[in-house]
Amino acid sequence: MSGIKAAITGIHSWTPDYVLTNAELETIMDTTDEWITTRTGIKERRLLKDSDKATSYLATKAVEGLLEKTGTKPEEVEFLILATATPDMLFPATANLVTGNLGMVNAGGYDISAACSGFLFALTTASKLIEAGMYKKIIVVGADKMSSIVDLSDRTTGIIFGDGAGAVLLEPSQDENGIIDCIMKSDGQGVKHLHQKAGGSLRPATAETVARNEHKIYQEGQVVFKFAVTRMADVAAEIMERNHLTADDIAFLAPHQANKRIIDATAARMGIGPEKVMLNIHKYGNTTNGTIPIVMHEYENRLKKGDNIILAAFGGGFTWGAIYLKWSYDPK
Ligand code: UT7
Repeated sequence: MSGIKAAITGIHSWTPDYVLTNAELETIMDTTDEWITTRTGIKERRLLKDSDKATSYLATKAVEGLLEKTGTKPEEVEFLILATATPDMLFPATANLVTGNLGMVNAGGYDISAACSGFLFALTTASKLIEAGMYKKIIVVGADKMSSIVDLSDRTTGIIFGDGAGAVLLEPSQDENGIIDCIMKSDGQGVKHLHQKAGGSLRPATAETVARNEHKIYQEGQVVFKFAVTRMADVAAEIMERNHLTADDIAFLAPHQANKRIIDATAARMGIGPEKVMLNIHKYGNTTNGTIPIVMHEYENRLKKGDNIILAAFGGGFTWGAIYLKWSYDPK
């Protein structure tokens, strides 16, 4: 162990202007605002309507704001890791499109694919590159244009997802604060319950795959819910336990925003009240890799140096995990 810790030294996010409300969904599919609100907690989500703009656009906007806000020049960034389930193209990595867009001429980069847990996995990976002493400035982005793979005729998945991106700057910590512990888990048995059938090397796109709607998300909601509700809570409890943290020690839970009932179950398991739960699912729905950095950005002004924060996520794969970090700066 080098003794170096990685700390988040800046955070920013970006969501598109178009608001898709539950009221509008009522006109598209057989649903009600009441059903969506009580079953998921979602009231509206943001969509990137422009057909010529994709995940790299969302990510570029978030990272551009982050660079400006932290006074970081593009050429100072050494590495960029982008977590996404909706890359602009299968290759090259969307990370490369973002570094190219912003003139990060000295940055290496790649994408991480771990569905809704991707941002957490990317942050873990980046923190280890800092701890190893390999880099001093890494940007970690979570970004998804979920509307590109959502089927609005499927009322069980069509209501959940939205588009958005969030990004953090990671640097060596100057004190005892920073990323303390990380857990990453996966279980390939989950594939059958949540996946995109076509578009990869197994079923490349054909007229038939398009006709069968196989390029959209396939999700067995109830099964995924049951796994999510236990595993996200399990891993949040595990990271608290192994770091000897009680509910009183926790300032905030920053959970993946997939369903408010999953978030409530995680908070209950941790023994924390709603005042300690970062929540914005009502405004953005599930932006997949965007949820955690977007919600943390929204709560940035409430965070104090030294605050104990638990991040937790669950997603397709299945993948799930948690991070324990001590926040590294006071509100500016
Ligand atoms: O992001 C990471 C991975 N994903 C998740 O974590 C998502 C986990 N799953 C969920 O959040 C929930 O399962 C959903 C929100 C997707 C669905 O909620 P649910 O409470 O599990 O509903 P359900 O699929 O069990 O359906 C219950 C009933 C069904 O009607 P019947 O068969 O009881 O008559 C559905 O047809 O609700 C019906 N239903 C709807 N009704 C109105 C399903 N979707 C809708 C809808 N509006 N949008």
